[in-house]
Amino acid sequence: MEQYVMKGGRPLCGDVVIGGAKNASLGVLAAAVMTDGECLIENMPDVRDTNVMLQAIEGVGGCVERIDANTVKISGRDISRESTIVDGEYIRRIRASYYLLGALLGKYKRAVVALPGGCDIGSRPIDQHIKGFRALGAKVDISGGMITAVADHLRGAHIYMDVVSVGATINVMMAAALAEGNTIIENAAKEPHIVDVANFLNSMGANIKGAGTDVIRIRGVESFHGSEYAIIPDQIEAGTFMTLAAATGGDITVKNVIPKHLEAISAKLAEMGCTIHEYDDAVRVDARERRLTCTQIKTLPYPGFPTDMQPQMAVVLALSEGTSVITESIFENRFKYVDELTRMGAKIQVEGNVAIITGVSKYSSADIVAPDLRAGAALVIAGLAAEGYSTVESIQYIQRGYERFEEKLKGLGAEIALVDSERELQKFKLQVV
Ligand code: EPZ
Repeated sequence: MEQYVMKGGRPLCGDVVIGGAKNASLGVLAAAVMTDGECLIENMPDVRDTNVMLQAIEGVGGCVERIDANTVKISGRDISRESTIVDGEYIRRIRASYYLLGALLGKYKRAVVALPGGCDIGSRPIDQHIKGFRALGAKVDISGGMITAVADHLRGAHIYMDVVSVGATINVMMAAALAEGNTIIENAAKEPHIVDVANFLNSMGANIKGAGTDVIRIRGVESFHGSEYAIIPDQIEAGTFMTLAAATGGDITVKNVIPKHLEAISAKLAEMGCTIHEYDDAVRVDARERRLTCTQIKTLPYPGFPTDMQPQMAVVLALSEGTSVITESIFENRFKYVDELTRMGAKIQVEGNVAIITGVSKYSSADIVAPDLRAGAALVIAGLAAEGYSTVESIQYIQRGYERFEEKLKGLGAEIALVDSERELQKFKLQVV
């Protein structure tokens, strides 16, 4: 089984170019089926989640032409109302295949998608998605594990989200963009990827205003034309490399980023003692000067501290002076990595959705297992901070959202390799002494 092996304990320094945002890409790729024209999408991260989404799009009859690793052409011209059934296989592989619900319902007034189950970080219901579709006039039934959404036509509505939900905001926005009349989505999520999907829809001819605020106003249009679009940089990939500098006492510049999207992360790292330099499209994190100090973090919807950065920040806090507290307010089960980090010497006590972290001076190397995407990346950071050899298993989680992860880490001086056998593992240990 493939795993990462690394020899940690040294400060990592250098520049790393950040790729396109995975969570924006998944919405944009799904939305591209809403036109019979052709959409050229650039800066798409070449990761498992986006590749599965492209397969799901082909599965419903969409045309997908891969130009290169990060560029794809998509058209919905060959999709018919009868083919708007998303195979359950895709939902099992990535929950975000459910974005095809909003896209297909919007364009074809019919979509059949398997009900996504819970996942490693929580139950993750989709009641707000369904509430929005019904408000637009769709008949939505759930039976046999499948969601069937149909409508003669969709009419604009005034929708108040009970929960701030990224997925529901994107899904309902897509369906509303081709509805008759005006839609207002109140209590909308404000993440940068919501804005990216709205901008992409507008580039196809939609009329969406207010994305990025908690009130989104949509004037439905008849149809969409093709478009050319480039995905925004991935704020979570950038934040992951920023915390890598903090955890290893290094000095890393993340390039091709939008600093404003990283403000919550930069502010926390500065509070802990990192020196942060912000440029037009880069942020530098210098943690060489001294040991970092404790702080408090509460994960919140954007622009609050992102839940997808919670495990990575915990790895840094567990090495910082003093006692820190992390409150995870978005998902109910996002501390699964704590057991693994404890095996590396971290002192963390979890009480419900609160983790109390007592900083230790260093981690001890260990063989650990990634429990989910972001925790997996966080455990790699811990392995690179620990002296000695560590391995991280179940790296398929990490490959869902980080493109060329080990290559980018090596570019910063990390001694890390992807190995697939005991022999390769021993070979690494002989080569990297
Ligand atoms: C998106 O998930 C991201 N995934 C997640 O990133 C991210 O953690 C999350 O937003 C929060 O920022 C993608 O964009 C593909 P939500 P999503 O709907 O849309 C509850 C990663 O690591 N809720 O904003 O599923 C839900 O249970 C992944 O890249 C309802 O109650 O998140 C949660 O507690 C992990 N009913 C909260 O809202 C609903 O209908 C926020 O969930 C929908 C959500």
